[in-house]
Amino acid sequence: MKKEIKIKPFWYSDVWLFPKLITVITTLDAQGRVNAAPYSHIMQYDVMHKRPRMMIGFRQDSHTFENICATREFVINCPSADFLEDVMETARFYPEGVNELEHTRFTPIPSRKVKPPSLQQCPQIAECTVDEIIKLEKSSGIVIGNIEAIVVDEELESMGREERIRKMNLPIGLGDHERVEYYYGIMDNLVHYTLKDTPQSYAATVDIKTELAWDDDAMADLMKVPPFVRKMVTAQVEKHARSKGADRVNRQHMAELTAEFGMDDAVMARFGKKGAG
Ligand SMILES: Cc1cc2nc3c(=O)[nH]c(=O)nc-3n(C[C@H](O)[C@H](O)[C@H](O)COP(=O)(O)O)c2cc1C
Repeated sequence: MKKEIKIKPFWYSDVWLFPKLITVITTLDAQGRVNAAPYSHIMQYDVMHKRPRMMIGFRQDSHTFENICATREFVINCPSADFLEDVMETARFYPEGVNELEHTRFTPIPSRKVKPPSLQQCPQIAECTVDEIIKLEKSSGIVIGNIEAIVVDEELESMGREERIRKMNLPIGLGDHERVEYYYGIMDNLVHYTLKDTPQSYAATVDIKTELAWDDDAMADLMKVPPFVRKMVTAQVEKHARSKGADRVNRQHMAELTAEFGMDDAVMARFGKKGAG
């Protein structure tokens, strides 16, 4: 049997289980004093490379949100599970102006593109400026941040995903009981699946409608695009060809568009024939 639950304030945590990324966000207040606190309502907003952005949800009276409104810069630091005690220390309600980092093992280091510090012990860091702030009435403040730099521990760059997952050991946030008892998942049981090929009978039926004529080699390139974005790419390439005054799509149009979207050969190869993103 299933049951409908009444939706009350804090439904997103009290009722709905939402495994999440754990971060410590560092900011400066208007006087230049450092603040740090854990935040996990965070996800990618613009996934393309031209204006990469994240969005984060805040309590509007938190120091972090107030500082971001005042100084328009912040750093998202992702700690490993070894630092959960320190993460919890930064979550305590200290008065305004207190640097929570002084109560932790985190070491502030200069960031590259913004003034708030980064945390040495965090293997994955995003330095951000504000793109947009949305103040929901009697609810959260949403910050859409431009990612000015993604900075990772050097050794991670050459690692495969599994090795990287194990090395970073990022905890998974599993919510809290009444804002006092916090729960985390720790990576001790990594599960891995390989996506199977699209069944033959479906692979041939990807429905693309073209409005312009296409050169054969341009069409062959289009077929290398993964099925789930092929329709969108078709429309974009035709729009691009028209903007160049063409009534026929050629290979050059296709190449120009994929370059504009940062879809170089390495990115395209990643989609492979299985079409995973
Ligand atoms: C793991 C964890 C995740 C949290 N995520 C959020 C969040 O995404 N949004 C939020 O408003 N508060 C979140 N909090 C609560 C704030 O960290 C807490 O209110 C903190 O005291 C705010 O500090 P500040 O006023 O210095 O910004 C989280 C707390 C913990 C422990």
